[in-house]
Amino acid sequence: MPEYSFSPTGAKFKLPEPEDYPKEFDRLKEVVSKQKALGREIVVVMGLGFVGAVMAAVVADAQDEKGNPTKFVIGMQRPSTRSYWKTPLLNLGIPPVSSEDPEVPVMISRCVKEKKTLIATYTYDALKLADVVVVDVQCDYLKESLGNVREGQADMKALEESLEVIGQNIPPETLVLIETTVAPGTTEQVAYPIIKKMLRKRGIESDPLLAHSFERVMPGKNYVASIRDFWRVCSGMNEEATRRVVKFLKEVINTEKYPLTVLDRPIESETAKIVENSFRATILAFLDEWSLFAERNGVDLIKVINAIKVRPTHNNMIFPGPGIGGYCLPKDGGLGLWAYRHIHGFEDEIFKITPMAIDINDTRALHVAQLTRDALRNMGRPIASAEVLVLGASYREDVGDTRYSGSELIVRRLTEMGAELRVHDPYVPHWWEFEKQDEYPASSHGLKRFFRGQEKLKDLRVEQDLAKALNGTDAVIFAVRHKHYLNLDPDEMVKMAGGVIAIIDCFGVLDDNKIRRYFELGCEVKGLGRGHVKRIKDQVRERKEQKRCF
Ligand SMILES: NC(=O)c1ccc[n+]([C@@H]2O[C@H](COP(=O)([O-])OP(=O)(O)OC[C@H]3O[C@@H](n4cnc5c(N)ncnc54)[C@H](O)[C@@H]3O)[C@@H](O)[C@H]2O)c1
Repeated sequence: MPEYSFSPTGAKFKLPEPEDYPKEFDRLKEVVSKQKALGREIVVVMGLGFVGAVMAAVVADAQDEKGNPTKFVIGMQRPSTRSYWKTPLLNLGIPPVSSEDPEVPVMISRCVKEKKTLIATYTYDALKLADVVVVDVQCDYLKESLGNVREGQADMKALEESLEVIGQNIPPETLVLIETTVAPGTTEQVAYPIIKKMLRKRGIESDPLLAHSFERVMPGKNYVASIRDFWRVCSGMNEEATRRVVKFLKEVINTEKYPLTVLDRPIESETAKIVENSFRATILAFLDEWSLFAERNGVDLIKVINAIKVRPTHNNMIFPGPGIGGYCLPKDGGLGLWAYRHIHGFEDEIFKITPMAIDINDTRALHVAQLTRDALRNMGRPIASAEVLVLGASYREDVGDTRYSGSELIVRRLTEMGAELRVHDPYVPHWWEFEKQDEYPASSHGLKRFFRGQEKLKDLRVEQDLAKALNGTDAVIFAVRHKHYLNLDPDEMVKMAGGVIAIIDCFGVLDDNKIRRYFELGCEVKGLGRGHVKRIKDQVRERKEQKRCF
């Protein structure tokens, strides 16, 4: 029986059969020999996900001073039913990732169709033709409970498999550049021995040329620039690997404007990535307790942060919103903890702040469900029979990336509390974490595991029409600061809802005038870190009283 892979938009692609592989390799050999004749370096990018697909295009777009392409790129994606569709799609010049950056589709189409410097394949044989292999497969961290990152482990399966096939296939002089965010120590103590063992099995006596350089890609409107026009850190296993990785990155990344930092050992490059993201996770988590302090003591934390941020030493303070999602911040510190114990063999507990920050961030959204319940209770509406609309499904403003978003936790906890959920997000056509909640992300990674009564959420659909989403709702949660939500008029909102509503502001979306207007209209308002709403409510009430007396 043939197997099929479906793209997110429903396009159907038949998976390759065993007899297709030799033909595909012949196709690759033919095109590579032509490209080599043009003097181009052959680069295989392994893993066409969020990072690999765009990195492949950035490399394929590289050119010399005369404007001639210097690289030919083969994007290599394993042909699983889950991911195979990315290969034929890329070969049509269509990005296999969705993005708010208009440069992504333009660049991919240009490289595939005009420059003809980018193709995609499903066969590992591509590795046999590589001068450089860039590894962009995932390395996950599996959490076993919610809010306790210590109970978890690195999931290195995809990465270890990739390293094995790399060692089985590459020519000995190929540079292998690991871009995957890994547990510090992986390049030296996991990747190097695996590849070396595979080379030895093939009778190759030279050592692998291995390097690490992590990605700082940011989904959103500067997706391409966050790869190409941004500072990089790198390190090679030995002098030759370092020389090769520096040369490669200088040829594909804008290192003139964004100079490269070369560190002594790969573990330093790997640690840089983990510390960078743990630092960010920590400054976000730090504000969680002050957010509760603010709520309980009449303080608007948003104004407090803005007052502090004018000091240049403190200008990277950010309000945390309803939890810290995205692929990286929730997991990267976990990879560090795991490495200390399992790669380096230490048994003492040196990590206090990093795991605590991740645990705080992972559970912050649960408080939004409490605020929603409290606001509805103040209006005499039980949460168990309430219709609740969540505005924003993604993990940050003005992007469509829903991975581990705070909004997902809000939906899950409120569902557990008996509420009926609706969702609106202009950037998210499908919220796969719900629609395909048994398989996306892999069942062992999904947040569904940590909540009761989640089955019906597979029918949750993202509404694109705000008026329709609002009609008849009891509560509205501003979960993400999408630009579409910043200027919504309270009178209009109440009109579209068909009556008074509870408003929960998770991200400082509402200014004081709007908060006041909602109260004047008879709505209830609560917000993360927004203790001053009570003061505005009292003022509105007093004014109403005064009017009644006169
Ligand atoms: N997404 C981000 O915003 C971001 C930012 C910075 C760093 N990173 C890091 O970059 C790495 C990749 O992240 P991503 O978001 O692209 O992950 P992803 O899950 O979107 O992509 C990984 C891809 O690799 C493929 N793959 C797995 N095993 C393979 C194999 N043996 N051969 C070929 N393909 C294989 C998967 O099918 C998938 O398409 C991770 O370590 C991540 O932490 C991601």
